[in-house]
Amino acid sequence: MDTKPLPVADEKLGLEVLKRLARERSLLVALEMMHEHVGDAFQITLPGFQPAVLVGPETNRFVLVSDRDRFLWRNEKDPVAKLLRQGILVQDGEAHGRLRAIMEPVLQRPSVIPHIPTIRRYTDELTTQWRDGGTVDMLVEMRRLALLILLGATFNVDMWPDLERMWLPILKTIKYISPGLWIIWPNLPRPGYKKVLQAMDDYLYGLIARRRLEIERLEIERLQDAPSPDLLTALIQAGLDDGLIRDQLLTMLIAGHDTSTASLTWTLYLLAQHPEQMATAVAEVDSVCGDDDPAEAHLQRLEFLDMAFKEALRLYPPIHVGNRMAATDLDVTGYEVQAGTRVMYSIYLAHRDKKHWENPEQFCPHRFDKNARSQRPPLTYVPFGGGPRNCIGATFAQIEAKIVLARILQKFTLTLVPGQKIKPYMGATLEPKPGVKMLIRKR
Ligand code: HEM
Repeated sequence: MDTKPLPVADEKLGLEVLKRLARERSLLVALEMMHEHVGDAFQITLPGFQPAVLVGPETNRFVLVSDRDRFLWRNEKDPVAKLLRQGILVQDGEAHGRLRAIMEPVLQRPSVIPHIPTIRRYTDELTTQWRDGGTVDMLVEMRRLALLILLGATFNVDMWPDLERMWLPILKTIKYISPGLWIIWPNLPRPGYKKVLQAMDDYLYGLIARRRLEIERLEIERLQDAPSPDLLTALIQAGLDDGLIRDQLLTMLIAGHDTSTASLTWTLYLLAQHPEQMATAVAEVDSVCGDDDPAEAHLQRLEFLDMAFKEALRLYPPIHVGNRMAATDLDVTGYEVQAGTRVMYSIYLAHRDKKHWENPEQFCPHRFDKNARSQRPPLTYVPFGGGPRNCIGATFAQIEAKIVLARILQKFTLTLVPGQKIKPYMGATLEPKPGVKMLIRKR
C-alpha cells in the first residue's frame, strides 16, 4: 500500500499555534491544537525539531508492541543519553535486556510488598514536620518523600542525612534533561551543570563504594535485615562495574522519584479541588483502615483511592510523551516515517482524546471502575507505557501511592490555599507549576 507523508500544519494553523504558544507559553496547548486540527498523526516542523507525533491506541500498539523493535530508545543528541550514559532507560537490544533481567525481580510485587513499612515510616517521618494550621508546598513535600522512599526502599539507603545537601543537585539534574534550547541546538554547551552533575556522581559512587565494603567485609547483617532485596546490592552481586552501576542508580533515582513526585502531588491537588471526591476518599480510608496502619491487606480495598490515582495519571501523566528514534523507514498507519526521525507517542493527548473519553477535561475517578475500564480499547490509557518495555517501576509506584495517600488522608485534612494559578508544566515530567500550596489540619 502507498504511504503518504505525515500531515503538517498549514500556514494559517501554524500561525495560530505560534500565537497561542507565545500567549500561553505552553507546548501542551500547541500540541492539543495540532491534534485537534491535523489528526492522530502529524509532524512538527520547527527549525531543527521535526518529530512525528502519534496519538491513540492504534499507533500506541505500533510503537509499544507490534513494531517496537524498529525503534531505538537511545538518541545520542539528547541530554538524557549524555547524563544516564548506559542507564537502562537509554539502552537498546541485548544490553537493555541484561539490565532489565537484573532489576525487574527487585521491583515486582513480592519484592515491593515487604517495603510497605518503609514507605509508611518515611511518610510519618516527613509529615510529623507539618504544623497543624500551617501551609506546605505539596510539590516540594512529595519530592522529599518520593526521594526518601525510593532510596530507602529500592537502594536500602537512608537519604535523610543527605537530603538537604543533594536537593539542589537533584533539581538541577532534572533541569538538565528537561525540554529546552538543546532540542533545537543539541551541541549547545551547558557549562552551568558541571558542578552539580559532579555532586550527583560523588554521591552515587560513594553509595556504591560503601555497599561494596559492607558486602566484602561480610557486614551483611544490615543487608540481611532489609525486608527485601535491593537494587544496589543486586547490581553489585550481578558483577557490574561501578560506572555501569552509577548509570542504573542515577536512572532509577530520576525516573523513580520525579514521576512519583508529580503523580502524588497531582492526585492530592485534584482531590482538594473536588471536595466531594476528597470526602469519598477520606471516608473510604476511614472505613478500610480505621486507626490501623495502611498495609498490604488494605491495598485491594482502597478502590476509590486507586481510581482517583489512575484518573490523576490520566489527566496529568507524569511521562506525557514517549520518545523514540525510527531505526528503519516505517509505515505508520499509512504514513511514511523515515529512518532517523524522532517519534513521540503522546500519552497526554491520548488520555484527553474526545474519541475515547467523555468530558476528558473533567476529574472523574469513576471512569476507572471495573465496568467502564473494560469498554475502552487496549492501549488507550498508557500512563506507564505498554508492551514488554513498559515502566519497570509501575507496581512499586502504585503500591507506594496507595500507602502514602491513605496515610496522609488518615492523618490530615488538606485544602488548597485559595487564589493559586496552577498549570501543567513540561519539565522532565509534567508537573504542577509553580507548586501546590496546601493548608494542613491535623485530624
Ligand atoms: C507514577 C509513577 C510513574 C510513572 C507515571 C512512570 C511512567 C513511565 C513510562 C510512561 C515509561 C515508559 C516510557 C516510554 O515508553 O517511552 C516508564 C519507563 C521506566 N520507568 Fe517509570 N514511571 C513511574 C514510576 C517509576 C518508578 C517508581 C521507577 C523506578 C523504581 C521507574 C523507572 C522506570 C524505568 C527504569 C523505565 C525504563 C524501563 C525500560 O526501558 O526497560 N518508573 N515509566
